[in-house]
Amino acid sequence: MSFGSGLLLRVARRWIAGTDMDSALADAKQANSRGFGVVMNYLGEDVTDRAVADSHRQQYLKLQEAIASSGINGFVSVKLTQFGLGSDDEGAMARLEAVAENAARLHQLLWLDMEGSAAVDKTLGAYESLLSRRGGVGLALQAYMRRSENDLKELLDHGAKVRLVKGAYREPSDVVFPTRREVSENYRVLMRSLFDRGDDFAIATHDSKLIEEAKKLADAKHVNFRFEMLKGIRNELKEELTSSGYTLFEYLPYGGEWYAYSRRRLTEHPSNVLLLLRSLF
Ligand code: FDA
Repeated sequence: MSFGSGLLLRVARRWIAGTDMDSALADAKQANSRGFGVVMNYLGEDVTDRAVADSHRQQYLKLQEAIASSGINGFVSVKLTQFGLGSDDEGAMARLEAVAENAARLHQLLWLDMEGSAAVDKTLGAYESLLSRRGGVGLALQAYMRRSENDLKELLDHGAKVRLVKGAYREPSDVVFPTRREVSENYRVLMRSLFDRGDDFAIATHDSKLIEEAKKLADAKHVNFRFEMLKGIRNELKEELTSSGYTLFEYLPYGGEWYAYSRRRLTEHPSNVLLLLRSLF
């Protein structure tokens, strides 16, 4: 490991629940004891080696069993490119199917993360195919995508469960809204649609203004939803929300492939430059 990535791992530990399943399960139990549910993700993306994609499927099957046998309040969320989407689409769908079947057998929800724009159509297609055959599946939708308003209408027409996020990948401005203000405005539009027509959805943001607005919508609509936040971000707000009676799930990623995820976390907020500097001393 180079000096640079060693340094980043030191900082990244606040966002990841360790590099192995046992550490992640211990973290999940701790989150449960603080009143949070957990969304567990085995880190990995853009996998082109079929043996690695198979090992990711195996990891999730084992993780789902461990969640069930240890009585953890939680479920898994997967990235389709970690199952080989993009290089082996058929194999990726078969791996997803195996994890979906296992989720159904164990009565667990299964969620799909949303990745970069190149994967959006295929991820929506895979999700819609799953949803038409089984319940208990949900999908992340990114408010920064210009297309998301139309996608959400269609998803809600089909009874989808949606996790609304702002969006974390670098994309050109013909694909995404380029300013933070526009992204937040679109988040509001999509959030209102969810409170009007959705069920069992997730408001996944750490943005206080959007959270306040969600609370007001929740007071008016009385629908089944939860807040979701990432491990290591705004912990005091998580406690505040649960002690006010809201349901909160913490997203816990773990595994050896922590670099791409941690880089997104590091670069999305300027305060992290300080963290990086502090870790030098
Ligand atoms: P914003 O970035 O405006 O942050 C609001 C406030 O939160 C900041 O002012 C700061 O206080 C704090 N904060 C946020 N990020 C921080 C950071 N990295 N370090 C320190 N403080 C930070 N994206 C995606 O493209 N596909 C996906 O599937 C998912 N899945 C997902 C699941 C869950 C449960 C969450 C919460 C988020 C995702 N995301 C995601 C990530 C999402 O798109 C987005 O990048 C982050 O949530 C940051 O955006 P916020 O909505 O928090 O707003």
